This record gives sequence, structure tokens and C-alpha cells, in this order.
Amino acid sequence: MKISKKVSGVEYAIRDIVSAAKDLEKQGRTIDYLNIGDPAQYGFHPPENVKQAFIDAIKKDQNYYSASEGIQELRTAIAKKENLKGLSIGADDVLVTNGVSEGLDMIMSSIVEEGDEVLLPGPYYPPYASYIRLHGGIPIEFSVDLENSTPDIADIKSKITPKTVAICLISPNNPTGAVFEEDSLKKLIDVANENNLYIICDEIYDQIVFDKKFVGIGKVAGNSPVIILNGFSKVHLMSGWRIGYIAFNSSPQLAPIREHLPKLARVRISTNHPVQYAALESLRGPQEYISEFVSELKKHRDLVVKRLNSMPGISCSNPKGAFYVFPKIENNPFKSDKEFVLNLLKSKGVLAVHGSGFGTKYGSGYFRLVFLPNMEKLNSALDKIEDFVCSYKP
Ligand SMILES: Cc1ncc(COP(=O)(O)O)c(C=O)c1O
Repeated sequence: MKISKKVSGVEYAIRDIVSAAKDLEKQGRTIDYLNIGDPAQYGFHPPENVKQAFIDAIKKDQNYYSASEGIQELRTAIAKKENLKGLSIGADDVLVTNGVSEGLDMIMSSIVEEGDEVLLPGPYYPPYASYIRLHGGIPIEFSVDLENSTPDIADIKSKITPKTVAICLISPNNPTGAVFEEDSLKKLIDVANENNLYIICDEIYDQIVFDKKFVGIGKVAGNSPVIILNGFSKVHLMSGWRIGYIAFNSSPQLAPIREHLPKLARVRISTNHPVQYAALESLRGPQEYISEFVSELKKHRDLVVKRLNSMPGISCSNPKGAFYVFPKIENNPFKSDKEFVLNLLKSKGVLAVHGSGFGTKYGSGYFRLVFLPNMEKLNSALDKIEDFVCSYKP
């Protein structure tokens, strides 16, 4: 039967690679899953008050469709959170979504037409390219210096064409952990304004930073056409509950998208209603669980980076945020980074994700590991990776 060209271009390396691991499990092998960025699968759960808010909402029969834009209390609380990060917005500037994933789809479907180009940080979180392609567009990667966490502004300028519609930022970044600082964000805003481009900024890891205070795009946005994507899957540990949001900066240039995008929200009726009360509680209630989570993650990061850098043929820059490392395979005896990852899986049972799954231009030659597992599990997986790289003596 017919299948559309646009859907056949969709890939998601992080999940696509799992089938190879499942085949090995069927043969009785035990797998160390270091592929998926989901805190809840590694023992980090929402606190009791947040779970209770979900249960209470169900028991209070808040089980019907909510307003398409989300419940007002949650939109107000989200606007307050974004105000603290520097964005001057109110509840009406927020639209609650089924995760950042849905928000991204809505944005790309609203701004991308056949042949339009969207700039992405290289390497990037794969759904960005998938949704751009799905809507007929072309993802264009720009270079980022991983040691200094700085975007290459000259490279961005050289890649802007009459077809470019937006610059996407992911800060902290998945897969590299790069966090853009205020100075870089200002330069990015200037480039976008000079070229009449949207700035779409994914800040889903905004509170998971290890070395410096996080600065969001809101701090430098002024009245530029900035759209924030954020959600509750990472910082708030609510991945399986599927909730996130789009926040529009108060910019006159955003008037057309603000008129049309909510129609998409109406077409899909609403997000999960009771979960919105849990998200509200996660913003209003005690916040200590976040700092505990982040300080635990910092220990994981320090361990993983140190151990990877001590392995022959592997070098790893220090992620400034999120929960991934993106080591470079300096001397790869296999024909690609994907072959490296598949051989690591076959010989040691450790599942990583190949770097090229995050964009071939800047991701090839690397692999991504998640450092969410506890220290014992991480050490054990790192022992296996070390054995693997030593076995082929790069
Ligand atoms: C940068 C980034 N954005 C969005 C998502 C997905 O967000 P959500 O669970 O809100 O759909 C992820 C998940 O890994 C991510 O890394």
C-alpha cells in the first residue's frame, strides 16, 4: 500500500537501536541500557506530593477534556517560571502540550513549507530533523564548539539563505550537554533579528546544569520573535505522563503564529487533564527534589567523564548540563560509529546510541551515553566499555 515520502524519512536513533538489544535479550543476554534519557527508568521519580496531585485530580473527577490551551492555573504557574528566567510573558502566552515533542510538531507544522530551511545545533536531538523533514523542510546543522559550549556564529551566518525560517537552540543540549551562555545567546538573537528568523529555544533541561547558573534565552530576548519549548519530563521527572509547553515571547512578529497554532491545539482537543494538576504541583510545591537529583547527577557526570578520558582511543568533553556524555571515538576500527555501538552491544551487552543518529555532519564518529544509572551500574558499564576499547587496542 502507499506510504508517504515524508513519513519514510522519519528516524529516531535513540529508540531505533533498541531492537538490536531486544534480539540479544531474547537469546538470554543481559543488557545495560545507557541509551534512553528517561530519569524515571533509572529510579528518579516525582515526589509524593506530585503523584498525589495526579491521584487527587482523578478522584475529583477532573477526567474530562481540559481547555485546549491548558488549565489556567498551570499556564499562570508556567508564565511565572519563565518570568523568573527573564521572559516578560503572562498565562495567555503559554500553551500546554503533550510534551515538548508535540509542541515541536505544532511549531514546525506552523512555520515550515516545502524546501524551507531550519538551522539546528550540530549535533541535535533527532526529532528536530524528523519533524522538519515531515513538514517538507530541510534541517541545516551549524557547528558548536563543545569545549567552550559556544555556537559558531560565522558558520550560522554563512548558512542562512532566503529559504531559512528559524534557528533552533537546545540549551542544555541533548546529546552534548553544551549550555550556551548569555553572550552567545545575545549574538544568536542579533543574527535572528537581522535575518527576520524565529528563534526556537528548547530549555527542557534548564535546571539540570552543573557548573554555572543557567541563563535562558528569555534574559536576552527583548521583544524578538522567541518561542520557548519546555516540559516536565526531565527536571520534574514526569516523562511518562507526557506534558510540556510552548511559551511565546511578547513580540508583534509572533502575531500570525499565535493566531494559527492554537487551532492545532484545538484539533487535538486537549492534553491529559489530571496530569496538568500534577505539573502545577511540581512547580508550586517544594523544589528540593530537583537539587537533590542534580547534585546526584553531577557525581555521575564527574565519574563518567573521568573514566572515559582514561580509556585509550576515547576522548570526552565535559557536559555542562543535561545527563548525557558524547565521547569521541578517536581511532575507530569499525567502519562507522553505528558499527562501533553495535559491536559494543554484541560483545559487552552495553547499549549506547551512535553519534550519527544525532546528525551525520557533527555527530559521526561519536557515541552517546546516558549517565542516569546509579554509580555502581555506571562503573560496571564503564568497565565493560573499557574492556571493549582495550580489546581492539586502538
Ligand atoms: C532536547 C529535548 N527536547 C525534548 C525532549 C522530549 O521531551 P518530551 O518528553 O517533553 O516530549 C527530549 C527528550 O529526550 C530532549 O532531549
